[in-house]
Amino acid sequence: MSEPIVLGIESTCDETAAAIVQGRTLLSNVVASSMEEHARYGGVIPEIASRAHAEAFVPCVSKALADANMTLADVDAVAVSAGPGLAGCLAVGVSGAKALAWASGKPLYGINHVIGHIAVTQLQFGAFPPDTLALIVSGGHTSLLHVEDMPRKIDVVGTTLDDAAGECFDKVARLLGFPYPGGPHIDRHAQHGDPHAIRVPQGLTQGKAGAAHPYDFSFSGVKTAVARWVESEQADGREIPVDDVCASLADSVATVLARKAMRGCEQYDSNTLIVGGGFSANSQLRAKLLEYGEKHGVEVRIPQIKLCTDNGAMVAMLGVNLVEAGVAPSAPDFAIDSAMPLTKVSM
Ligand code: KG4
Ligand code: ZN
Repeated sequence: MSEPIVLGIESTCDETAAAIVQGRTLLSNVVASSMEEHARYGGVIPEIASRAHAEAFVPCVSKALADANMTLADVDAVAVSAGPGLAGCLAVGVSGAKALAWASGKPLYGINHVIGHIAVTQLQFGAFPPDTLALIVSGGHTSLLHVEDMPRKIDVVGTTLDDAAGECFDKVARLLGFPYPGGPHIDRHAQHGDPHAIRVPQGLTQGKAGAAHPYDFSFSGVKTAVARWVESEQADGREIPVDDVCASLADSVATVLARKAMRGCEQYDSNTLIVGGGFSANSQLRAKLLEYGEKHGVEVRIPQIKLCTDNGAMVAMLGVNLVEAGVAPSAPDFAIDSAMPLTKVSM
């Protein structure tokens, strides 16, 4: 099989998505979002999201196949996100994918959605170099990975000890009165602000804590510092300079991520940094990573914006990697794993 064709299905959170990838080529990519149904609650409501997946599953998969001019008979395998994510949401996607695979007699891979976020870069930049470093920044994860051999061997080098970067942005956004998800609003306002207007701590970068945790992250202090500052300004009757608050927060978070990622590249002797996850859509982080990469002689591979947030292409791409590597498909009775560890690439 020269260039495997894989149908990828995603339903971990509030996006139902399906895509077809052949080798390193994206043939179709369909995303349906239930985001608007959650906005008024200020966060994703799992029951509403699961129901939306049940409604969108067949239309999404049908459109992905139609857009690629294919039927299920043309694909070599089906891949579906088995975790991490919301249990009820995962169950809808996995059950649907099992039905498709069983009916068509195609092998099925239950894959790790977070590893998909970095796998997707291959559609733009080609295969991973061996022994490379990856930075995962999604709503729930902020981790540095050592990808020794994609998709066979992945280790966690560092991770957040508290909030993920995306979570930190979403929490500050709520404080500033932005609707859910707040990350993109902070991004937009930050573009007009002064990144040095207010002092925001850079967690685990200095002193003993920094030395003990060179590759770990902490963003809850960042969130608290911004919250305190905003509260004290309000108490004094001053107007909040929203753009400056956003710019200072974004600069602090992006700087920590870029510094630690570059240090990791040096440590692991990698001149490539793979980046992925919803938060990699953040423009301040993208600029900072490219700037630091240039300074350190590291090629930074960030997905195009539409492939940063949850999508089926990343699932299909990781599926192609598993097929190419000769990894056995998942057993027919594989379960979802809402807390799937990053070292586990497929079920
Ligand atoms: O990977 P993802 O789509 O969902 C998870 O699997 O967790 O990531 C969603 C996260 C949210 O926290 C959202 O606010 C953040 O990514 N995000 C952004 C931007 N776009 C999405 N954060 C900052 N700036 C953005 N442009
Ligand atoms: Zn995600």
